[in-house]
Amino acid sequence: MISDDHTSFWAENARNFDKQSNPDIDALVKRICREVGRVKRVLDVAAGTGIVSLVMARQAGQVDALDLEPEMIAVLREKVAASGIDNIAFHVRSAYELDFTDGIFDAVVIMNSLHVMKTPESALREALRVLRPSGVLIAPTYCHAETRDNLERYQHCASKSGHKSYHLFTCDSLCALIAGCGFEVKKRETLEINYEEQSQGMKLGYVVASPLSAVS
Ligand SMILES: C[S@@+](CC[C@H](N)C(=O)[O-])C[C@H]1O[C@@H](n2cnc3c(N)ncnc32)[C@H](O)[C@@H]1O
Repeated sequence: MISDDHTSFWAENARNFDKQSNPDIDALVKRICREVGRVKRVLDVAAGTGIVSLVMARQAGQVDALDLEPEMIAVLREKVAASGIDNIAFHVRSAYELDFTDGIFDAVVIMNSLHVMKTPESALREALRVLRPSGVLIAPTYCHAETRDNLERYQHCASKSGHKSYHLFTCDSLCALIAGCGFEVKKRETLEINYEEQSQGMKLGYVVASPLSAVS
């Protein structure tokens, strides 16, 4: 299996990953779900503990939740078992090599994860392959280099937590990456996600894109 070399960070943090509720993340998940609408099948790439999958499952026919880290998927499995949801399928697998046939998903969500992947372009090309031509990619991603202040705040937090971002995006560089992988960026916005322990929010690029071949 293809792996990034910091998966132990996610294994160690899986149990505490979403322990603290965050109204900005809740609002972001609602927005993603509104954007996707009522569709048959959604792929949640790097799903983690299922923050998106669990809400999306209320409106989609099926959600496929995929993550490289077994411990993250184990937490999601427990939540699903406790909630009685029966339309989430689990996949412990790299986003770089998806085990799905072409064009089967109405939407692919990659939330808060492209920056922690060594080669996010591999994940984006796979997302493009498995999306229907009329499908939608939603990729809200932290853009730590959006401003100098934001970058300093991120670096300070990362030095304490051991968190590693392979990519310090700006919203522009994130959009360029997505466009370079065969998508047309339809919407982009820089949002601020606030955390209790920080006095100021972290910049996040909210990007919605379509497969280029579908663009008229
Ligand atoms: C910051 S967490 C985000 C989880 C979830 N999307 C959310 O927003 O709550 C990043 C996740 O990316 C996963 N990940 C990192 N590299 C990956 C890869 N190559 N393929 C699949 N998952 C990966 C990690 O295991 C981790 O669960």
